Amino acid sequence: MQSKRTRLDRFISQHTGINRKDVRSMLAQGRLKIDGSLATDIHQFVDEFTHVMLDEKTLQAKTPVYIMMNKPTGVVSATKDNKHTTVIDILKKTVNKNETECLDIDNLHIVGRLDFNTSGLLLLTNDGRWSRLLTTPEQKIAKLYQVTLANSINKYYIDAFAAGMYFSFEDITTRPATLEIISSQVATVTLVEGRYHQIKRMFGRFQNPVVELHRIAIGNLTLDVGMEHGDWRELVEQEVKSFL
Ligand code: URA
Repeated sequence: MQSKRTRLDRFISQHTGINRKDVRSMLAQGRLKIDGSLATDIHQFVDEFTHVMLDEKTLQAKTPVYIMMNKPTGVVSATKDNKHTTVIDILKKTVNKNETECLDIDNLHIVGRLDFNTSGLLLLTNDGRWSRLLTTPEQKIAKLYQVTLANSINKYYIDAFAAGMYFSFEDITTRPATLEIISSQVATVTLVEGRYHQIKRMFGRFQNPVVELHRIAIGNLTLDVGMEHGDWRELVEQEVKSFL
């Protein structure tokens, strides 16, 4: 996984206004440090998370952040909202509790929103490359939801979800989705895309309103068992890389 990359000489030049030729001699004089070690190659690439120092001055020091949250219902998947609590408000309130005061919350964005009344697994990051990777339709990353319906469901739903449904507003047919019946009014649905209110609209075809919608997993990443609504944690490296 790579973030936006620039060659070291270009990076230094852009950040300091110093001529690229002069950057070469700075390197030879041992004035440049990359991720804590002396830089040895002017052509090496740096990305937005490479730690770069010139003499004692830090030119860039941004740490990638990857978070899983169990989004509660009644909270907006947004960074700002004038009316409602946002997932960022929740993070800000609890960040000290989680002893991660240096977390770069202000630069986080949401990776695949959930509706106001949907709960469950929500990912946040400051790494644009990673979030694009997770959300590009070509990746077809599966998202697993548990759905509780107002009325009972039957086996005809399974075929209809698998066949795809035409949405005239967007002029698209939904990609094959997997529906598994858990009990008369509860199902799991796996989508490989994220159309506007997709699950509610798909059940709407059967005039069967969604009462509760909860996202359980994205790809191989499953919401922690027992994670309370509003709780969150940083992902470990292996989880971050599981989407590669
Ligand atoms: N489908 C919906 O209708 N809402 C969501 O939040 C996610 C999928």
